[in-house]
Amino acid sequence: LSSIRVDISEVLPGTQLTVKWLGKPVFIRRRTEEEISAAREVELSDLPDQNAENANIAADADASDENRALDDTGEWLVMMGVCTHLGCVPLGDAGDFGGWFCPCHGSHYDTSGRIRRGPAPRNLPVPTAEFVDESTIKLG
Ligand code: FES
Repeated sequence: LSSIRVDISEVLPGTQLTVKWLGKPVFIRRRTEEEISAAREVELSDLPDQNAENANIAADADASDENRALDDTGEWLVMMGVCTHLGCVPLGDAGDFGGWFCPCHGSHYDTSGRIRRGPAPRNLPVPTAEFVDESTIKLG
């Protein structure tokens, strides 16, 4: 089966769940208000990759935080936990931008999972995902 359902009812704000899907880690983060505002205050022109990299929307959509989050409030962010440089798994709550940090060669991602500094060329990709009810996210 290529799609899975994930129960997110126990995920607290400011934490994330990592699940395996198609052999790769997927981060499902429930963001705090601070994380959401930090992500939404960033100017697109400050982003090395200005594409949303979100499989759920148009391929040319911009990398605004609204185009990355899974819901309108921005509370839920779902993305592949695979560094776009050479594929290591970035660490959460780390790095210079309060998001993720890849220790392999020093890539810093912000609270929207967008690359901000380091060798990684692209934002962490948002896979095909949707809410099937308020406590369940379907991947694929
Ligand atoms: Fe992440 Fe190189 S694999 S920085």
